[in-house]
Amino acid sequence: MSSHPPPATAKPFTVPDCLLAKQAGTKIVVVTSYDYPTSQILDEAGVHIQLVGDSLGMVVQGNSHALTVTLEDMIYHSAMVSRAAKRSLVVTDMPFMTYQISPIQALENAGRLVQEGGAHAVKLEGGERTAEAIAAIVAADIPVMGHIGLTPQSLHRMGGFRVQRDEARLLRDAQAVAAAGAFAIVVEGVPASLGEKITQKLAIPTIGIGAGAGCDGQVLVFHDLFQYGLGHRPKFVKSFGNLNQIIHEGVQAFAAEVQQGTFPGAGNVYS
Ligand code: KIV
Repeated sequence: MSSHPPPATAKPFTVPDCLLAKQAGTKIVVVTSYDYPTSQILDEAGVHIQLVGDSLGMVVQGNSHALTVTLEDMIYHSAMVSRAAKRSLVVTDMPFMTYQISPIQALENAGRLVQEGGAHAVKLEGGERTAEAIAAIVAADIPVMGHIGLTPQSLHRMGGFRVQRDEARLLRDAQAVAAAGAFAIVVEGVPASLGEKITQKLAIPTIGIGAGAGCDGQVLVFHDLFQYGLGHRPKFVKSFGNLNQIIHEGVQAFAAEVQQGTFPGAGNVYS
């Protein structure tokens, strides 16, 4: 279909493969995914990791933030994605207030995302303050991806979606998440030089989003990557397609044929 080589191997991409990719210098390709047909396409295209992000609160549900997303929402979307993913590793976000209360709460809810949502791993936001929850989940053999820097669930503390520049704190956060047993860590909304510094200090791979090219992999939200939906797109986004335009033009062509009576044609009817 495309002239680009597939980013992943033909075999399923696993948690241990993440570490091997870092060691081999192979960049890890991550795309958010929220439903069955999208997951089929991303899987077939060889995306290493499909992230069922709580960004679905914005790009799918139409809210201005992700704080209202529930565990049930994440289980629902994760199940659709994991049903289609044959090679991609499926990582599902733990939504706001499903892991902050106690490590036991975090473990119970991570277990539901795996058992009911079919996730292979879960992702939690936060650095030092989340380390205990990460350790509890990892101890039950559920792999955890960390997420530091601009953590969207901390929207109100940060005073908006703002680039994070406190180098000492972010380095401490990164080390704490790695020490707690995370297999990879999303680094979001930090200066490129800091993204690179964190990457060099950690043995586990970093997945950047608005964190520069020095990270071990990159993640983008599907709707930003392919211009799907009419929302604001941050500076760090690069679009690689325009679904809005394809759908708009397709609907206009459909409407024209319906109104002209050329659809349905002879080939689209039962005799
Ligand atoms: O929710 C999400 O989609 C995310 C990524 C953008 C990293 O956390």
